[in-house]
Amino acid sequence: MTPVKTNKRKVNRSAAERKFNEKTILITGGTGFIGSKFIHLLLDRYPNIRIVNLDKLTYAGNLDNLADLACDNRHEFIHGDIRDPKMAAGIFGRVQGVFHFAAESHVDRSIVDAGEFVLTDVFGTWALLEALRGLPQVEFFVRVSTDEVYGSRDEGFFKETDPINPSSPYAASKAGADRLASADAVTCGSPVLIVRPSNNYGPFQYPEKFIPLFTTKAMEGKSLPLYGKGRNVRDWLFVEDNGRAIELVARKGVFGEAYNIGANDE
Ligand SMILES: NC(=O)c1ccc[n+]([C@@H]2O[C@H](COP(=O)([O-])OP(=O)(O)OC[C@H]3O[C@@H](n4cnc5c(N)ncnc54)[C@H](O)[C@@H]3O)[C@@H](O)[C@H]2O)c1
Repeated sequence: MTPVKTNKRKVNRSAAERKFNEKTILITGGTGFIGSKFIHLLLDRYPNIRIVNLDKLTYAGNLDNLADLACDNRHEFIHGDIRDPKMAAGIFGRVQGVFHFAAESHVDRSIVDAGEFVLTDVFGTWALLEALRGLPQVEFFVRVSTDEVYGSRDEGFFKETDPINPSSPYAASKAGADRLASADAVTCGSPVLIVRPSNNYGPFQYPEKFIPLFTTKAMEGKSLPLYGKGRNVRDWLFVEDNGRAIELVARKGVFGEAYNIGANDE
């Protein structure tokens, strides 16, 4: 039997912080709720950064979230699909870091039809990881996952070492892509960092999500849709705090590790 060649690359594991200024960074899903806020955070913080924003503009993507950047030549928008391996390969050749936000993100939609979730979250993440292999100039790849991969618990907090036990097709597809990313870190030495934030809220969130849905319905005097008896507990994380935490993980995180991000605000 011929041994399998993995092209394992040498990853720089020095304790020095990764730097973003002067770098070209790929953001996938950058016209969505969290990705667009994150682009603003990077541009505010790093005057000489360049952002390549790859987004398919699904119903959840909205270029108006970035309207103020129309004259900012540090931001380049590419209308495209992460599931297209040629597209990813073309872009990866000219970036030094990746923040991968693009996903189908609404649990209720995944229960009705999980197909797009599997294709975007699992296949799409695979296509990006393939592009990453053998490109040493790409110094880090942050995969944005979710705390929902752990499933539910009655009390306490999830730890990164807890078992993955997703309970919706959305969470299952996120968990599948997490596993692909972790496997690439082990097998190929890919510089992967996984972040698992809790529920985000903040301006420009698509109105199907819990807080904008409830506030708009309440303002219109309509009834509020509850699951079960309405006793489910969630941690709520402000979108800008989430962005700061993701940026911190990208600068200082250990490759191959996952990092939970919560607000301790249930
Ligand atoms: N919103 C939350 O509370 C929350 C919590 C934890 C983790 N997350 C994760 O954070 C990330 C961003 O979430 P969000 O709330 O901003 O989502 P969102 O639905 O608002 O935005 C998703 C973006 O991805 C783009 N996209 C979808 N499929 C694509 C494809 N095939 N190719 C390229 N672009 C594509 C969409 O056009 C959109 O701009 C997701 O990975 C999500 O799973 C979200």
